[in-house]
Amino acid sequence: MQPVAEIVTEFARRPWGAVSEADLGAAARVPTMLTPEEGQLYHWLGRRAQGDGATVDLGAYAGGSAARLLSGLALSGRDYHVHSYDRFRSSRAFWARFLPGEALPEADDADLLPLVRRYLAPWEGHVTLHVGDIGQMRWTGGPVEILSVDAAIWSAMADHIAAEFFPALVPGRSILIQQDYLMAVQPWLPAQMVGLRDCFLPLAHVPKVGLVFMCIAPATPERLAAARVDGLTDGKLMSRVREAASWHEGMVQRAPFKAMLEQVKAHPGVRLGWQMRQAARAKG
Ligand SMILES: C[S@@+](CC[C@H](N)C(=O)[O-])C[C@H]1O[C@@H](n2cnc3c(N)ncnc32)[C@H](O)[C@@H]1O
Repeated sequence: MQPVAEIVTEFARRPWGAVSEADLGAAARVPTMLTPEEGQLYHWLGRRAQGDGATVDLGAYAGGSAARLLSGLALSGRDYHVHSYDRFRSSRAFWARFLPGEALPEADDADLLPLVRRYLAPWEGHVTLHVGDIGQMRWTGGPVEILSVDAAIWSAMADHIAAEFFPALVPGRSILIQQDYLMAVQPWLPAQMVGLRDCFLPLAHVPKVGLVFMCIAPATPERLAAARVDGLTDGKLMSRVREAASWHEGMVQRAPFKAMLEQVKAHPGVRLGWQMRQAARAKG
């Protein structure tokens, strides 16, 4: 097994920056909400996989994150499989913004599955689409080598994802991407991860808002219970966000954490990202 210190150095060099559009191959044509650097990271993570477990993509939208993981995994020389979870539905507004090359549906809540199946066809047999509410989904698929979390848009969901998927991560090997980690309207993510600091080592901040962690100890039921974020008072939530800011000193500036604290103060008791955002917009 690669020593932890070596993995830290490997990520500090940010080698995904060398991934080119040509390396991404068919994945480059799959629409995504990821930034270009995040897309490079996903491909590179797939390529460096050791075949120690499945890859799980929580919040797939049109399959952009899955495609980038798959294009890398296909080059890893190992057996691979991606499990993508989503409702696979889209509003017209999101469709117009993120799928400009596709005919705009007549109504909201449009089915993304036909598109996703077309986009992911190059990796047929290597991907399973889990359709529905992630909050109702269980993980029974064994060890997970790469876990991407891009759907923890409320605190109870963050707890559910941690309880179901984190125990499958392999200490010393598995990588966790918290895709929306520094978003002002999801302060429960740093609050959760700092509660699990014995289990995860931060490896890199990938702009805009993603953080990559390595699992360094098992996420036991006791640790997960202590790190739960749904039900925290605003005061406890803010104090955990401040702890996270100190934990990430040197890797992340203070500004995103300050923005999170402002959101909590401005929206007491709110634990749903879009409600914070909506309230902020209504004021602004
Ligand atoms: C930011 S988008 C994911 C973007 C995607 N990773 C990409 O590369 O473009 C978040 C996704 O999470 C999904 N999502 C949010 N809450 C969910 C839930 N409870 N169950 C299933 N999917 C959910 C949404 O449908 C949306 O597609």
